[in-house]
Amino acid sequence: MANLIPEEKVDQVRSAVNIADFIGQYVQLKKAGKNLFGLCPFHEERTPSFSVNEQKQIFHCFSCGRGGNVFSFIMELENLSFPEAVSKVADFGHIDLPATYTAQAQPAKPKDQLQSDLLDLYADSAKMYQHILVNTELGESALAYLHERGLDDQTIATFGIGYAPKNQLLLDFFKAHKTDYQLLRQSGLFIENQAGELRDRFVDRVLFPIKDASGRVIAFSGRILTKSPDEPKYLNSPETKLFNKRSVLFNFDLARGAIRQRKSVVLFEGFMDVIAAYRAGIQNGVASMGTSLTNEQIYMLERVTDQLYICYDSDMPGQKATDRALKLLGDNSRLNLGVIQMPDGMDPDEYLRAAGTEKFVQVFDDGKQTPTAFEMQYLRHDLNLQNTQDQLTYLAAVLKQLAGLSSNVEQDLYLNQLVQEFGLDKADLRQQLRSVVGQQTVHRQPTQAAPPRLSPEAAGLTPPPPSIDGTPTNMNAAPLSRVERAERLLLYRLLHDHDVWLRVMALADFHFVHDQYQNILADAEAYFNTHNRFELAIFTDFMTDEHLKQVVTSLEFMDIASETSTEEVADLVNVIMNQHPVAEQINGKKTELTAAKQLGNQDLVQRLTLELIELYRQQQQVKQADNL
Ligand code: UTP
Ligand code: MN
Repeated sequence: MANLIPEEKVDQVRSAVNIADFIGQYVQLKKAGKNLFGLCPFHEERTPSFSVNEQKQIFHCFSCGRGGNVFSFIMELENLSFPEAVSKVADFGHIDLPATYTAQAQPAKPKDQLQSDLLDLYADSAKMYQHILVNTELGESALAYLHERGLDDQTIATFGIGYAPKNQLLLDFFKAHKTDYQLLRQSGLFIENQAGELRDRFVDRVLFPIKDASGRVIAFSGRILTKSPDEPKYLNSPETKLFNKRSVLFNFDLARGAIRQRKSVVLFEGFMDVIAAYRAGIQNGVASMGTSLTNEQIYMLERVTDQLYICYDSDMPGQKATDRALKLLGDNSRLNLGVIQMPDGMDPDEYLRAAGTEKFVQVFDDGKQTPTAFEMQYLRHDLNLQNTQDQLTYLAAVLKQLAGLSSNVEQDLYLNQLVQEFGLDKADLRQQLRSVVGQQTVHRQPTQAAPPRLSPEAAGLTPPPPSIDGTPTNMNAAPLSRVERAERLLLYRLLHDHDVWLRVMALADFHFVHDQYQNILADAEAYFNTHNRFELAIFTDFMTDEHLKQVVTSLEFMDIASETSTEEVADLVNVIMNQHPVAEQINGKKTELTAAKQLGNQDLVQRLTLELIELYRQQQQVKQADNL
């Protein structure tokens, strides 16, 4: 194995870090039985099938089948090499790895060369633009502008803010480095004219790097320094192989930790608002790319939190956008929602500068509104409540809103407010509300249906349907045959009980039917040469085949008795060896066929091939019978 970090060191890192804490940075986990459940970070899903077993320090997704230990988790998620994964987990556990090991932790090259080259190009560009802003005369005015807006050097460094000067520079820089022309064309960093000549896309703009969830620069958004009627205030990179603005949230990489700590995320309208809040210590903020939230972005957030606060500008366009966002999220997500509004029609960045950190933070502590409270205020916007007609319009709209609430207590709270404000009789209002509720249940269109509420399963309160095999429980997965169930159970026993191991390995002709179990057995034989005890987390580091790692991990999630017996083992061996003589014959026939081919005996090859086909046919029949 190409693992140059000594095994003791790897063990030390693994045992110092609880897998649930580590994965908890990326996935919101909830206890259900002896496992923790959450939404699988490797594919899109709405009900949790991703589980973590703390006792065994492993994870497994019942839906996609991925599984392994803490290192495999981060290797898969961020496409890291093994040393890099160890180094990342060590960082999390505050364990120092000697520099000689971490030197190996070079980022794994993404499988796709173009993607990897583009990432390098963006990393270099970001460095270059930042250097110009911070260290050169060309950047002086932009730096002054940012300081003027309250950003200190620390903040500029944290967000990697840069400056693209007036005269183009990036193109010359890359030309000097002989960067491939086609790569430059595809990068989105340049504009191409009809003659195929390139020039810098960003000119005289402050540049905010847009990063992916792992913190790698994949695009820029450039803000103009002085208002111009002819040019957009913010200019974004075009979509490229790296950058799909539907699936990016500004600052998600930095905010993730704080989102988990504060158990909520704040959604802002602008980058400057996210940065302002960050400076004030509110670091769980993100922003979409100047558009309404997409489903992709909602998924990203649902994975890490239950609670989202919308903190848009408090001017009228901002309130309209808030109203839209509440409806969009109400219909498309299971997030609990809230609204935070700055006073006096300001955006968060303006308010921070006007009022100072203390008052700013106070708005976040005290100024949280429920969606209903927000709507009750918002519904007034083009009404004159001194006017009886408008009062009635308003009351009707509010009652409609209240009718959608599932909690009577909450309804009551708002009814009391209406009673107070309009001097109405509470019993009348209740009566009125009841009739609105009645109408809504009759006329409710599918699109107006109440937002999907958390099912117990979605809430992670109950595990997904139990699968005794620990195999995918999704609808497409075929049930396992009797033989395969026996194989999985026996393999589990072999690994966990060394007496079973010795007994079965003593059988001269024992052989699993399916190659994957046989291959795991071969890995286990090698493993036991150097290890006394089976421990899954260690074994999976030892293994090299990713698929087999997942298979062996899935065994740990079988719902089986903890004790085995001689009879059980004998039965399992019997099922595997004798219920499938066909499989044995196939294996034998294959060996003969290979030999015949090597000998060049055409007649024999032909005869064996025909026999093999007949055996496959029989095997098909056995398999079908098994599944009955
Ligand atoms: P705002 O105009 O509210 O930005 O647009 P802001 O954060 O207050 O900007 P400052 O304070 O004037 O610098 C909100 C978001 O809309 C997108 C950007 O993502 C911006 O952060 N936007 C805005 C654009 O993409 N293009 C534009 O021309 C304007
Ligand atoms: Mn602003």
